[in-house]
Amino acid sequence: MKLELQDYIKFRNFVYKRSGLHFEEKKIYFVKKRLAARMKALGIQRPKEYLWRLKYGDPHGKEFQQLINLLTTNETYFFREFDQLSVFAENCLQEVCTTKERQGKKKLRLWSAGCSTGEEPYTLSIILQQMVDDYHTWEVKILATDIDTEVLKKAQKGVYSKRSIKDVPEEYLQKYFIREGDNYKVKFSVKKPIQFRHLNLMDDKKMRLISGIDFIFCRNVLIYFDENSRRAVVSNFYESLNNGGYIFLGHSESMSRISSAFTLRRKNGFIVYQKVED
Ligand SMILES: C[S@@+](CC[C@H](N)C(=O)[O-])C[C@H]1O[C@@H](n2cnc3c(N)ncnc32)[C@H](O)[C@@H]1O
Repeated sequence: MKLELQDYIKFRNFVYKRSGLHFEEKKIYFVKKRLAARMKALGIQRPKEYLWRLKYGDPHGKEFQQLINLLTTNETYFFREFDQLSVFAENCLQEVCTTKERQGKKKLRLWSAGCSTGEEPYTLSIILQQMVDDYHTWEVKILATDIDTEVLKKAQKGVYSKRSIKDVPEEYLQKYFIREGDNYKVKFSVKKPIQFRHLNLMDDKKMRLISGIDFIFCRNVLIYFDENSRRAVVSNFYESLNNGGYIFLGHSESMSRISSAFTLRRKNGFIVYQKVED
């Protein structure tokens, strides 16, 4: 398949508008390979024809979804960025729980935005069970969303290979997983609070419906966006959070260039971002 630069630009602009995913010019070979796979499956010869199909012959976005599933990067594993999770578990979580308990509102709402195959929300679920005093007296919900429908299917199954669980402490492996041959399946108690849902973070209308969240984890997702999309997404995150709630980004992602709305806090040498309104 031949893909002229000008056609590539049209494709990547189209994908960007719909998903926020930004592909630089040097990514042409990565994108081309995926376009070729879809075109082969559909029996389409020319890139122009495929773009036309995406724009005008795909009223429910099914073909766009197929393409997106190929274009996303889904790398993830349990207890990724362990030090950041420790700050969450030992500082932020304790603080929010204490405040809520004082207010008599024993509800916790977390959101793993860009959850990929589920390792992140399951990790959060394990941490909550471990760290929240009288866990069973709390109403806990973890919303786990992704744009990619294939990863969500895998997430719902909750079965993982050795590679995914490499950073899970042995004690937790025994306590929260069931061995299935070479694989590890998360136990029902870990699955119970999680709701997996398809969501495009660029879908402004749907994003605005999410509220009452205490902790947002959007790690290693915004790196694939450009500045404008990042700002739009983070502004919606801000609205979704409760006052006093926290947002966690990946270690290579800095909030300073995206939003000044959050209050920066230093905890155990880590910078975390909190929504603080008078
Ligand atoms: C590298 S994974 C990160 C997984 C996990 N948060 C972690 O840090 O291990 C990035 C995920 O973001 C998702 N993603 C990319 N663009 C998205 C969008 N516009 N809306 C929702 N999810 C998106 C991808 O499908 C992918 O599963």
